[in-house]
Formats: sequence, structure tokens, C-alpha cells
Amino acid sequence: MRDILIIANLKMNMVHRRDVVSYCDRVRAAMATAPDLKKGVRLVICPSAPHFDVVQRLAHVEPRIALGAQDVFWERRGSYTGQLSPVTLADSGVRYALVGHSEQRTYGHVSDEEIGKKVAALILAEITPVIFVGETEHERAAGRIKDALTSHMRAIMQHVRAEDIARCVFVYEPVWAIGATTPPTPEELMSARILLQKIIADTYGATVAHMVQFLYGGSVTPQNAAMFTPDLGIEGVVLGRAGTQAPSFVQVAATIAHQHRT
Ligand code: PGA
Repeated sequence: MRDILIIANLKMNMVHRRDVVSYCDRVRAAMATAPDLKKGVRLVICPSAPHFDVVQRLAHVEPRIALGAQDVFWERRGSYTGQLSPVTLADSGVRYALVGHSEQRTYGHVSDEEIGKKVAALILAEITPVIFVGETEHERAAGRIKDALTSHMRAIMQHVRAEDIARCVFVYEPVWAIGATTPPTPEELMSARILLQKIIADTYGATVAHMVQFLYGGSVTPQNAAMFTPDLGIEGVVLGRAGTQAPSFVQVAATIAHQHRT
């Protein structure tokens, strides 16, 4: 069985280096007393790029921690002011990179096609792409979840070769659940995961679709983490707010790891 992934997206919340240093110290201390984290789980921390080295230092001493990036550019080098090359990420120890987070779609105006190109660039750099898809509140109210997910996935997948799809991680993250209070029900989660898997299967075949790892993101807390049971087919979560608090990050990881072990 592969590791479940618990990803802390720090966003632009820890703006001082000292905050990231103390966060990493607290994550390490909390992990030392959490027996469920010994194996089968990986904790990915995604800081701002100038603080990669702080997380990388923790990853060196704590093998269950990996460094993640919050974004990437699709070209490897050239005149692209302000962009982050996948080569630079790999060179800095980045193992996972988030692409297509709803805040990137909103503030970075990134399209599904561009997300697809980022995925291809990450695979070339041997970094695992963590790809976000999810419907908006409006799409949900209009009963258009299936249409929304299908159109995101199809446009992204155009840039991903069949032999690479199993190296991608997909996050079902409904936009309405980000920064909210409750995630979807287990039934809704399961049906979204099955739908994503079917969309992948339609393009690449069922065998490879069953190899893809699916996560969930949006309003996950230590209080609701126990709902992520293995039968949902969701092998991990992405945390925004809860990920910025070291104890809750580690607690969510321990709770879900425990569910997957029993
Ligand atoms: P949240 O954010 O956990 O604070 O809802 C999730 C995200 O933005 O990925």
C-alpha cells in the first residue's frame, strides 16, 4: 500500500522565516509523540518558495516529511519574470507541487490548459503534481458538478501522456468548501472520486485510472478527519487553515493514518 498524503498548504500565511522555523519545530515535536505516524503516511508541507530550505531541513531529519511547492511555471527556463521553474523546484528538494488551486485560478487567472502544461512540466522534473479540481457553489446549486469536473479534467488531461497519469495526484476540492465550515458528506465525496476516476478511465483505461491517488481538500479539521475512511477511496487530504497549526496538522494525519490502518 502506498503512503496516504496529508498536505499542509501554508498559502501566504507565514510571512516571516521565524514563523516557518517555529512551525517546523512544533510539527517535529508533535510527530514525535504520535505513534500512528510511524509508517504509511507522508506529511507534505508547502511553504512560500523563499522558505523552502526551512522545510527541507526538517525533511532531512524526519523521513515522513516532504517539501511541497504551492505552484510552478510550465517552462523550464527563459524570460518569464516572476515565475518558478520546475527545475529550480527539483533543485531545491521539492517533491510535490500544487497546481490549479482555486486561489491560483482566481488570482493567477490560470486556465485548465495551463494547469495541464504545468503537470507535464512537473512530471518531466520528477516532481509529483497535485492537481485540484472542484465545482463552485453556483455549479453545485445548478446540479452541474459532473459537467464542471468533466470539463476541468478533460482540458487538463490533454497535456498528460497515458504513461504519466498514474504519477499524478488528484484533489477533489469543491470551491465552496474552501475556508468554510463543513466538507461534503461521505456519499458526495465518494461519488466525486468515482466520477474523477471514470473520467480518467474513459481517456486512459480503467487499469491506470485505478492506480491514481485521490485526495480531498476543503474544511478538513481534526474534528472531522475521522470521516476519511479507506472505503471512500480517498487516500489523504489537503489542509488550509488546519495545516497552519502544527498540532492540528499532525492530529489530522494521525487520525487518517489510523483509519487506514484499522
Ligand atoms: P481550508 O482550505 O482547509 O482552510 O478550507 C483548503 C484549501 O485551500 O486547500
